[in-house]
Amino acid sequence: MRDLTRADLGSLPARSIRRGHTYKPDLLIYQVDGEEIVLKDYGGKRGPWLAVVGAICTGLEARALRVLAGLKGVPQFRGRPDRYSVAMTHIAGRRVSGGDPELRGNECFVRELERIVARIHRRGVVHLDLKHRSNLMVSSDGWPVVLDFESALCFDPRWFGGRLAVRLLGRLDLLAVQNWKRRLCPHTLSESEMRAVRLARRLRGWWLPRRLLDLLLSLAHGAGSSRTGDGGPPGR
Ligand SMILES: Nc1ncnc2c1ncn2[C@@H]1O[C@H](COP(=O)(O)OP(=O)(O)O)[C@@H](O)[C@H]1O
Ligand SMILES: [Mg+2]
Repeated sequence: MRDLTRADLGSLPARSIRRGHTYKPDLLIYQVDGEEIVLKDYGGKRGPWLAVVGAICTGLEARALRVLAGLKGVPQFRGRPDRYSVAMTHIAGRRVSGGDPELRGNECFVRELERIVARIHRRGVVHLDLKHRSNLMVSSDGWPVVLDFESALCFDPRWFGGRLAVRLLGRLDLLAVQNWKRRLCPHTLSESEMRAVRLARRLRGWWLPRRLLDLLLSLAHGAGSSRTGDGGPPGR
């Protein structure tokens, strides 16, 4: 399938998942050739800071989604209309929450999540923000889908160094999977896994790249808005 361009989307009507957040991208849904496409777009954000961040984040996401093309359990790449945006298939479903009655105790769901993460790692990609609630959905047919590869890194799995990097950094993803298991199926965790998850929770994960980025952005915006008398950014 051909990569989408701005010209392809320009004249089409869009529905919004999220629009107008100070420093997060707009998320818009388009109908293109009978397929629903999500455009993640930093194009309308103000300031040079966000232009740089938007270019980096959408670049990382586009790169990871390209590498993961054809993989079940992640959105499919549909193009990079410009350097501030990335297009992908829309996932029909809902966010995963610990209280979801269909997911509580659903071992098939967490085992499939483990398999998806293993497949992502085999292609040399580490997600690094899988713990966040916004980044895991349950599709309308009940399977997990991993979203948001803005902090993902890609390595070449054909090289020893690439495999080593995935092995080391991938531990963060595995810890995040265990945290999902703690939320949904705590009985599937061993004592030592539960201890590791609790420790990670205490560390709060604020040092993960995306968290750090969010913190810097909110601080930068806070400093800017206190000069202009604007309100602060909504929390994540
Ligand atoms: N491809 C997609 N299909 C369906 N919903 C999506 C898709 N991408 C994002 N979303 C929705 O938007 C939310 C935020 O997207 P995400 O990529 O995590 O961006 P951010 O971390 O900047 O908020 C997700 O939790 C999900 O509800
Ligand atoms: Mg997210």
